[in-house]
Amino acid sequence: MFILGIDTSCDDTGVGVVELSAGRVQVRANRVWSQTVHAQYGGVMPELASREHVERIDAIVGEALSEAGLGITDLGAVAATSGPGLVGALLVGLMYGKGLAQALDVPFYAAHHLEGHIYAAASDAELRAPYLALVVSGGHTHLFDVPREGEYVLIGATRDDAAGEAFDKVARLAGLGYPGGPAISAAAARGNPDAVPFKEPLKGQSGFDFSFSGLKTAALLAHRAGAAPDDLAASFQRAAVQTLVKTTVRAAGATGRGTVVVSGGVAANRALREAFAATGLRVVFPGPGLNTDNGAMIALAAAAAVQAGRAPSALSEGAVAYAP
Ligand code: KG4
Ligand code: ZN
Repeated sequence: MFILGIDTSCDDTGVGVVELSAGRVQVRANRVWSQTVHAQYGGVMPELASREHVERIDAIVGEALSEAGLGITDLGAVAATSGPGLVGALLVGLMYGKGLAQALDVPFYAAHHLEGHIYAAASDAELRAPYLALVVSGGHTHLFDVPREGEYVLIGATRDDAAGEAFDKVARLAGLGYPGGPAISAAAARGNPDAVPFKEPLKGQSGFDFSFSGLKTAALLAHRAGAAPDDLAASFQRAAVQTLVKTTVRAAGATGRGTVVVSGGVAANRALREAFAATGLRVVFPGPGLNTDNGAMIALAAAAAVQAGRAPSALSEGAVAYAP
């Protein structure tokens, strides 16, 4: 069975195809068109994002099908993100997905964007609940316990900025460019991580929350005091990585989980991957192209729903900006 997945939750038009066969899932195509129109505004303009999705989605679906070597009538199900995200942007993918499913007379699955990020690692055939899932992106820093497939217990989250947002803001103030994550990562490779001292956020807390606004302010003060951008990047990256890894390791100890899925845009960060690899936990990262927003992860979430025997979504399912 081939499942088409669509994600238009923000400023990327993502369409992917997965194949579900004999209990195994495989990504067959993953096409993402990233909007560049927002760069001139310094942030995503929601209305422009919606319009660009409308203009692009049909072409990206076509590209994904040809990458998978399929015709449209080969699809056995269609999935699209229903939230959380920008409502206007979400509506484009959701309506397109529902229309396509209805025209083909195949089941439609509405997917939760964060469930998509978690299932981005599901092409790892050995992944079995229970596990912890850390979703670290430009919009989220969420730590879930997954006691059983399809069940998510939020055990920690950021109290202020998301991890990726902090990378983006620190890169901007240090003049390192956009997007900030890769820019910080490249600059950090040249800098000294001991140059700028950062305090550990929420030190001594008994829970598993995160906070990045203190690091951001400390980075701003260090920048004003004349810290070199490369040193600032190296020091900030180490502090951000340490707080993510230490908190997750503590949560693994408290819940008794031995496996952690780390996904979302920030999961592409090499220092984060190395630090997690050194923890002794079994750490699963999504494959290339599956960390940042994409449609394949939505198709993977739908494949999990099909495998679990979940009923398809109603075509009346709406888009939701905030989906807890
Ligand atoms: O998952 P994603 O594509 O979009 C959201 O749903 O937010 O994540 C984008 C975020 C951006 O903040 C970007 O700076 C960050 O992921 N990012 C990175 C790296 N690559 C992307 N952060 C740290 N290191 C990276 N290599
Ligand atoms: Zn995302």
